[in-house]
Amino acid sequence: MTDFVPTPTLPAPDIVRCAYMEIVVTDLAKSREFYVGVLGLHVTEEDENTIYLRSLEEFIHHNLVLRQGPVAAVAAFAYRVKSPAEVDAAEAYYRELGCRTERRPKGFTKGIGDSVRVEDPLGFPYEFFYETEHVERLTQRYDLYSAGELVRLDHFNQVTPDVPRGRRYLEDLGFRVSEDIQDSDGVTYAAWLHRKQTVHDTALTGGDGPRMHHVAFATHEKHNIIQICDKMGALRISDRIERGPGRHGVSNAFYLYILDPDGHRIEIYTQDYYTGDPDNPTVTWDVHDNQRRDWWGNPVVPSWYTEASLVLDLDGKPQPVTARTDASEMAVTVGADGFSYTRQDGEDKGFKVGAQL
Ligand SMILES: [Fe+2]
Repeated sequence: MTDFVPTPTLPAPDIVRCAYMEIVVTDLAKSREFYVGVLGLHVTEEDENTIYLRSLEEFIHHNLVLRQGPVAAVAAFAYRVKSPAEVDAAEAYYRELGCRTERRPKGFTKGIGDSVRVEDPLGFPYEFFYETEHVERLTQRYDLYSAGELVRLDHFNQVTPDVPRGRRYLEDLGFRVSEDIQDSDGVTYAAWLHRKQTVHDTALTGGDGPRMHHVAFATHEKHNIIQICDKMGALRISDRIERGPGRHGVSNAFYLYILDPDGHRIEIYTQDYYTGDPDNPTVTWDVHDNQRRDWWGNPVVPSWYTEASLVLDLDGKPQPVTARTDASEMAVTVGADGFSYTRQDGEDKGFKVGAQL
C-alpha cells in the first residue's frame, strides 16, 4: 500500500465490468443456506471448501465464490477485461504503480482462465481476467425463477479513508464518475464509478479502510425485493435486514441491505439508469441533503456507516485498517439519536406540488 497514487504512464487495462467477488466465510454450510436457500443464487459447482454461485442471467462461471476460512473477509474484487492481452496490460499497469501482483494460471480459480490478482494502491485485492468457462444462461428457465430472483451482479462498494485519492486512482484506471456526495467545503464523502453502462461497477464510501462495504445483485423489479423481505420475515431472520427497503437518491435505485451469517453486507438493487454516453452528466449531492441516501428521507442506521468486511492481501492475511481523518458522513449527518438531520439549521426549502425542487 502506498500513501499516494503515482500517475501511470502505461495504458490502463480495458475493463468490461465487475464480474465476481470471492469472500471467505467461517461456516460454509450456514452460508450456503443463506445464499442458495434464502437468496436463490444458482450453484455452478461446489466442493467441501468452496461454492461457486451465479445469478440467473449470467453466462460466465460465477459471480460469487464462497470459500471456507478462519476469518470472514473479502479475497477478491474481480473484473472482466476486454481480451486476454488486457490481463497482461493490468499486470504491467500495477507493476508500474509499485503494487504487488500475482499471475494465476487457468484453473487456479475454477472456471477462470489466466488472471492477475493485485494489491491495489488503496489496499484492495483486485483481480483481472478475460478467459472464463461459459455456463447455461438461465434467463428463460422460468421453472427456476423465484419471486425474489437475483438476475445480475450489479456492483461492489468499497470503504476507503481518502475518497478523492481513490477516485483519482479509479479514474486513471478508466472508470467514470456518475454521482458523488460532497459538502460546501468540497469534502468528498462518496463517489460512484462505472465501466459498464449503469450507475456503477464500484463505489467508494468514506470511512476506515480498506474494507468491503457491500456487494450488490440486481432484481428485475421492486416487487422481487419486497418478496425477499417477506421471505426473511417468514424465516424469522428479519434481524438480518439492516436497512430498507427504500429508494436511493443517488442512483435512483430501489434497494435493500441484508447481512449474511458472517456479517458480509449484500445489497439487492433495481432500477438505476443508463450512463453510456461519453458526456453523461455527473450528479453531485450535498451531504446535508437527506434524500441523497434515501429518496423518501428515511434515516440510515449508524451500523451502515460504521460496519464493513475486512479485505485480504495476496497472502490471505487481513489488510490493516486505516482510520478516516476527514469528517465522516455519519458524523456530519446523523444525530445522537441515530436519526439523520433532514436539513441544515435554518434551511427550509418548502415545496410546491408539481414543481421541480
Ligand atoms: Fe450499492
